[in-house]
Amino acid sequence: MNSYSEKFEKMRSAGKLASQTLDMLVDYVKPGISTDKIDQLSYEYINDNGGYSAPLYYRGFKKSLCTSLNHVVCHGIPSDRILNDGDALNIDVTAIVNDHYGDTSRMFTIGDVSIKAKNLIDSTYEAMMKAIKILKPGIKLGDIGFEIQSYVENKGFSVVRDFCGHGISNTFHEPPNVLHYGKKNTGIELKPGMTFTIEPMINAGKFDVKVLNDGWTAVTKDKSLSAQFEHTLGITEDSYEIFTESVKEYRKPPYN
Ligand code: MF3
Ligand code: CO
Ligand code: CO
Repeated sequence: MNSYSEKFEKMRSAGKLASQTLDMLVDYVKPGISTDKIDQLSYEYINDNGGYSAPLYYRGFKKSLCTSLNHVVCHGIPSDRILNDGDALNIDVTAIVNDHYGDTSRMFTIGDVSIKAKNLIDSTYEAMMKAIKILKPGIKLGDIGFEIQSYVENKGFSVVRDFCGHGISNTFHEPPNVLHYGKKNTGIELKPGMTFTIEPMINAGKFDVKVLNDGWTAVTKDKSLSAQFEHTLGITEDSYEIFTESVKEYRKPPYN
């Protein structure tokens, strides 16, 4: 027992429900489904399993999750858009259980996607995992950004600057900001009990982003493809815990 074990227990429940929602979606995310249907399935699944969808009514957002397709960087709004062969989709689920938040996203590929899309998606997943694997008390926030930035820039991709990871516990977004670019040994020091997300958005082209007139949908300015993965994590006495790991061991597409 320690001062944060109760908080971590709640983060585990919320994280598990969010990741199980993504696991459930694997059977449905196929050519012909709309992003609204994905939203509806997730809303029902989360409610049926004792949670709430955090995005619904969050700052005026009207859906239960974000669906960010192809050149959409993040905060895509579910709609009647039908998924087609060749699409690359990020689904970002945030569940509330026992007043705590679990926030996680994965890429889904619909049918066959280009080699370039596969490379971007694999690199984004690897970048997130490289950053996660260095987590322990004593490292600095800048070390996280450095891991991600150095890895993806070496592959010719770019790190989105306008959105970042965030502290998360009994609120959705709290300090600190977790930047996905940066310099080693800069920023605040990680301490046991801290809980936050790492959610790099990586573009095939330039990092510049603009938000559409709906006030939410962020897209790449150069219309290049963008990918993202997200985990909710906690810092332990000497390491880290991933609260949103897939029970089915789904990591990156293809999932079956
Ligand atoms: N899940 C997103 C994040 O990773 C936030 C979505 S806010 C919403 O922080 F309102 F757009 F859903
Ligand atoms: Co988040
Ligand atoms: Co999220």
